[in-house]
Amino acid sequence: MSDPYLELHRQKQDRKKRGGEWVENFIFPRLIEYDLSAINLEIGCGHGHWLVNYSQTETSQLFVGIDLISKRIKKAASKVTKQNLKNIFFYKAEATEFIECLDTKISKTFIMYPDPWPKYKHHKRRLIQLPFLKLLSSRTLDDGEFYFKTDHSGYFEWATSMVSESTYWKIIDKEWPHKAKSYFSELLPKNQSFCARRL
Ligand SMILES: C[S@@+](CC[C@H](N)C(=O)[O-])C[C@H]1O[C@@H](n2cnc3c(N)ncnc32)[C@H](O)[C@@H]1O
Repeated sequence: MSDPYLELHRQKQDRKKRGGEWVENFIFPRLIEYDLSAINLEIGCGHGHWLVNYSQTETSQLFVGIDLISKRIKKAASKVTKQNLKNIFFYKAEATEFIECLDTKISKTFIMYPDPWPKYKHHKRRLIQLPFLKLLSSRTLDDGEFYFKTDHSGYFEWATSMVSESTYWKIIDKEWPHKAKSYFSELLPKNQSFCARRL
């Protein structure tokens, strides 16, 4: 499937520069306005159902949702426009590229139902890897948190063992902070989740 955005911005450096400018132009001013030091980030937000709902219950916090697929981000962003929401933004980006260009801190990161890449030969494509956990921790507040949820038991085991192996995170006993359903949690109600705190 061709992606017009990726065709226009083929170079990673170009996409990172655009991401950095987007953060500077849209996120920084809102952080100042809200007197905040960090954002909450959902990676792979899809159409933004869950994050929009969360942002409406925590109106003094700032939320950013990113997704690889332009159409999903357009749909999510249309909810922001229609409901005139001020504390939530959506941006089309790949997770690692976005975090690399993020020149601000993250308070909480959420990943729900990421692609499990079930075949052994594809495990290297899973988002949760040690370098990713290190990168995420470098942009996270000292006591910041990372929430992960999946319906795939193999990926749950993988992610928990990566977090345990990583020297940057520790799994803690903490409830998911917002109970609303995401699009995929409606489809896949059986899931496992954890919360990890940045060390
Ligand atoms: C199964 S959907 C889950 C959507 C939503 N979190 C939910 O619970 O309904 C996974 C989403 O992650 C996005 N995604 C996959 N890999 C990604 C990456 N590396 N960076 C950003 N988004 C990604 C996909 O495009 C897709 O929309």
